[in-house]
Amino acid sequence: MKKLLELKNISKTFYSEKGLLFSRGAAKEACKNINMNISSGEIVALVGESGSGKTTLSRIAAGLLSPDSGAVFIEGRALERYSPLQRASKIGIVFQNPSDSLNPVLTGGYMIREALRNRKRLDYQNPPPELSSAESIFAEFSLDFKLASSRPGDMSGGQRQRLAAARSFAMFPSCLVLDEVTSSLDVSTAASIIKLLKRINARYGTAMLFITHNLVLAEIISERMFVMKEGEIVESGSTWEVFGSPRHPYVRELKAAGMLSREEAGASRYAGRESA
Ligand SMILES: Nc1ncnc2c1ncn2[C@@H]1O[C@H](COP(=O)(O)OP(=O)(O)OP(=O)(O)O)[C@@H](O)[C@H]1O
Ligand SMILES: [Mg+2]
Repeated sequence: MKKLLELKNISKTFYSEKGLLFSRGAAKEACKNINMNISSGEIVALVGESGSGKTTLSRIAAGLLSPDSGAVFIEGRALERYSPLQRASKIGIVFQNPSDSLNPVLTGGYMIREALRNRKRLDYQNPPPELSSAESIFAEFSLDFKLASSRPGDMSGGQRQRLAAARSFAMFPSCLVLDEVTSSLDVSTAASIIKLLKRINARYGTAMLFITHNLVLAEIISERMFVMKEGEIVESGSTWEVFGSPRHPYVRELKAAGMLSREEAGASRYAGRESA
C-alpha cells in the first residue's frame, strides 16, 4: 500500500503561562518523539485517555499546529510545502464539537458548495463525477437536502457532525482525521456515524485516522491502532493483535474500561457489523 501520511519524530511541549518574567511555566510534553504512518485507504485508530496528546498530534498532522521538532509528510512531500488549499485537499480534520468549526452564520448548503468550489480550483484532481454537487454530498452523508438551507444552530448534534465531516470530505482529501467525532453523541447517532465513515472508506478509499478514548470503538472501526499515553505511543500494531492480546498493562486497562461501557460498545459493534 502507498504511504500516504508520515509523522516523523514529532515532539511538542506546551508551557503554562505561570512562569516568572523571562522564565517559562511548567512544561507539558504533549507529544514525545512520535512516529506514525498511514497508508492509502487505511483506517487507523489512535486511542488514549484524556490529556494523552491525541488532539495535539492530530492538529500537527493536519498542519494546524507546528511541532517543536519532527516533520509531517503527505505523499512523500513535507506538509508545509503545500498551500493551505492543497493541504485541505490532502488531509481534512473533523473535531469532537462541530459547533467549534462550523461557521454559525453560513447554511449547510453554502459550506458544502464552497468546499466544492475550492476543490475545483485545484485542477490536478477531479472529484468523482457522482459527488460533484452539494446534493450528492448531502446524500452521501445521509443528510436530508432540506438542511442545505439551515444553519448549524438549527441542526441536531448528529446532523452538525455529519455536516462537519461532509464539509471536510467535499475537498476529497486522501485522509480524514476524526478527533473524537462520536464522543458527544448519543449511542445510536454515534453508531450511525461510524457506519457512514466505514461506507465512505469502502467506496472512496479515504484513509482515516480515527481518534478515540475507547479501545472497543477503535477495535470496531480500525485495521491498525496506536495507543498513546502521556505523549508517547505505548503500543501499536494490527487491531486484531493489539485488541486481542494487549501487551502493555495500560492497554489492558483501556480495554476493560471500554468493555464496561457496554451500551456504547454494543451499539457500535452493531454499526460495525451491519453491512454498510
Ligand atoms: N494550547 C495548549 N496550551 C497548553 N497546554 C496544552 C495546549 N493544548 C494541549 N495542552 C496540554 O497538552 C496535553 C495533551 O492535550 P491534548 O488535547 O492533545 O490531549 P487529548 O488526548 O486530546 O485529550 P482529550 O481526550 O481530553 O481530548 C494536555 O496536558 C493539555 O493540557
Ligand atoms: Mg482531544
